[in-house]
Amino acid sequence: MTELELISPTKTKEDLFNVVSVRKDFPILRIRVHGKPLIYLDNAATSQKPQIVIDVLKKYYEEENANVHRGVHYLSELATQKYECARFKIKKFLNAASEKEIIFTRGATESINLVAATYGKLRVHAGDEVLITGLEHHSNIVPWQLLCEERGAKLRVVPITDSGEIILEEYVRLLSEKTRIVAISHVSNALGTINPVKKMIELAHGHSIPVLVDGAQGVPHLKVDVQDLDCDFYTISSHKVFGPTGFGVLYGKLNLLESMPPYQGGGDMIRSVTFEKTIFNDLPYKFEAGTPHIEGAIGMGAAIDYINALDWNAVEAYEKKLLNYATNALSEIDDLKIIGMAKEKAGVISFVLEGVHPHDIGTILDQEGVAIRTGHHCAQPVMDRFGIPATARASLAFYNTTADIDALVNGIKKVKELFHV
Ligand SMILES: Cc1ncc(COP(=O)(O)O)c(C=O)c1O
Repeated sequence: MTELELISPTKTKEDLFNVVSVRKDFPILRIRVHGKPLIYLDNAATSQKPQIVIDVLKKYYEEENANVHRGVHYLSELATQKYECARFKIKKFLNAASEKEIIFTRGATESINLVAATYGKLRVHAGDEVLITGLEHHSNIVPWQLLCEERGAKLRVVPITDSGEIILEEYVRLLSEKTRIVAISHVSNALGTINPVKKMIELAHGHSIPVLVDGAQGVPHLKVDVQDLDCDFYTISSHKVFGPTGFGVLYGKLNLLESMPPYQGGGDMIRSVTFEKTIFNDLPYKFEAGTPHIEGAIGMGAAIDYINALDWNAVEAYEKKLLNYATNALSEIDDLKIIGMAKEKAGVISFVLEGVHPHDIGTILDQEGVAIRTGHHCAQPVMDRFGIPATARASLAFYNTTADIDALVNGIKKVKELFHV
């Protein structure tokens, strides 16, 4: 199917999404790699940036750069206003109840570490348990492991099925009076599984257990409403959602954030300091020590403006159609096995090809201009679960097309030819 066939005639909901026009907003999609057009299928690692984000970052450095919250001069006030405006946009985007619930961090990893190091220390004691799932990224494993080691607590893990879905009955069984925190990914970066987080939160809340949702891979694919989910914490990675790198968000319920001690000490997180005592700043600044990633926030605000301008229902429908197309096309290749066939999936396809190491697949595809990721995807326990060291992973964004998938399939056929498999 060609790109134009994909969008015309506009009879179905998914066809209302105009991918040809959307692609024009992402300048990098026009480059060539090794003489071939770039086919970018590594969106779970990081997404590409629309022109509006690039323009906003350039403008910031050309016309607006100053430190925030500190100056009375024009530029500092302008930078502060833009920075806080980004917070307002993110609050609206997530449907948080207050801007005070939106903490700026360096990324999803730092957001999770922040919760583990502050709330975790308050809540988790010797003999307690922290419950995660077998689908987690290392960022949602290691901070809890560190916490458990420090507190003498136990990390418990909800097992997953052969198709890469959480076993809900096991989750229910593992929730107990010992469980102090549940930490689950919204969408698995390694397999694409969409976890039933709303149900899992409800079940945990039934035992008064707070839940952190690692939303690094959720927000790029799904509309998220933190009040509807009723999650206690939700983490976002800006660079995976078309914004700048090195920036992220921690959403937390106000009462929980208020109860938590600061994460780091330094400028901005204080109201007053003497050698005897420091009085901490109000939320959200209590958790934002030091000069923040100002342009990161402003850039992410622009990414949200971009997303808001799209018809998200149509985007979701389009991505679903693209994922089905890719799943069917890859399934037809002999000796190729897709790892992770959950019923509810976002745009990630992990696969192995018999007789060929994933790194070789990635290297040969690169020569064809096709960028995928190979390795353990920072989810080694997922690889262990399937008894493999690594997979090749194609991950989609709404600017990908069926033509991209065709290029991937042709590249894999070349791999097979070269390896005689
Ligand atoms: C599910 C998941 N959680 C957390 C992270 C870490 O995000 P960040 O790069 O913002 O630290 C990633 C990054 O790949 C991820 O996929």
